[in-house]
This record gives sequence, C-alpha cells and structure tokens, in this order.
Amino acid sequence: MYLLTNIRRAVKWIVFEGPDCTGKSTIILELSKILERSGYRVLVTAEPSRSPIGRLIRDWLLREKVDPPHIYALTFTADRYYHYYNIVKRGLEQGLIVLQERYKLSTIVYQSEMGIDEKWIMELNRYVPDPDLTIVLDADPEIIRERLHRKSSREIFERDIETLSRIRQKYLDIATRLGLPVVRTDRDVRDVVWEVYTIVRRVLES
Ligand code: TYD
Repeated sequence: MYLLTNIRRAVKWIVFEGPDCTGKSTIILELSKILERSGYRVLVTAEPSRSPIGRLIRDWLLREKVDPPHIYALTFTADRYYHYYNIVKRGLEQGLIVLQERYKLSTIVYQSEMGIDEKWIMELNRYVPDPDLTIVLDADPEIIRERLHRKSSREIFERDIETLSRIRQKYLDIATRLGLPVVRTDRDVRDVVWEVYTIVRRVLES
C-alpha cells in the first residue's frame, strides 16, 4: 500500500532527436534515473528498434549499403509502425513515461539528406502519432565528427563534416519551424541533464 501511493503516474511520451553522437542515449539514461528516483515508472526505448525490421536495418548499417535509398525510408518507417504499436503504445497504456531515442524526424532529416522527397516521408508516417514532447540535442559538427572517430563500431555511412553540418542544420530548421526545444550537448553532461530535466518536468506537470 505504502509503495503504491509512492508511485507517481504521468503518461508521457518524450522523444530525443539530433545528429549522431549528440549524446541521446547518455541523456536518456541519466534522465530515466532522475525520474525513477522521483517515483515515476519509465520505459527507455530507441529506433531502430529490436524488432526483426530494426535488426535488419542495423545489420545493413554495419555491412552493406542498399539501393535505392527509398528502401531506408520504407524500412525505418516500417520499424517505426511495429515499434510504436507493439512497444510504445503498450508502455503508455501501462502508465509508463516513455523516453525514446529517434522517431519521425530522423527519417525526415536523414532520408531527405539521401535525396528522398520529404512529403513522401511524411505521408508514409501519417498513421503513427506525434509524441507529447520532442527535444532536439545539438552539438558542433566538429565535436560530432571527433566523437564519431572515437567510436569503435563504424556504420557504413561515413559522415564528412559537410554532411554532418547539413544534418545538423536540418534539425535546427525543423526545430525552429515546429517550436521544439534545442539543447546543446557540447558541455558538462550534468548541466545538459539538468536543462533537459527542467523542460521535461514542465511537460510532466502540465
Ligand atoms: P542510432 O541508433 O542513433 O545510431 P548509434 O546507435 O550507432 O549511435 O541510429 C543509427 C543510424 O540510423 C543513425 O545514423 C541515424 C540513422 N537513421 C536514419 O537514417 N533514419 C531513421 O529513420 C532512423 C530512426 C535512424
């Protein structure tokens, strides 16, 4: 009984977006610890997911480049439908706060960078809903490139500084267009987590 009254309920779905190596998984992990300490029940998840489609995508990212690039838009989106309806929606129905790495904006940014029409991507994504909050994590492209170089497992898309800058700019443009919060992560991780937590708390209390 005592335990039950201590559990705080907030059914919120919060997505973290941004270029590679902007610290999405670190920030989500730290935020989940804070929320759990405050009594919330949290589900941490990510795209590409652990579904068979997600595993196929991760395998491709490590091994081979597939053509035409429309296949990426289709498979990332198929993985999204599977993941949303089988993992996220169920988590929300169980009263959890869902913290998710990457969602629709990743396909819009990365696959439009591959030359795929943005409107078509949006159409494909029509039947998966929008989250309660999307936070865009941002860092200087030079720092992202350094972090990418330090990573041991390299995915097949080598990202040069121009590509990284374009991806970053696309995220910043979308954030401005949609009024999404942007948090810079090229500084002390505790400061970043605190800023993110402040934004999230507002949404949890709303
Ligand atoms: P991610 O899991 O963030 O990379 P890692 O775990 O290696 O840090 O995502 C893998 C890559 O997939 C990343 O470069 C972004 C890309 N991606 C897309 O191109 N489109 C999408 O829709 C998604 C979800 C990811």
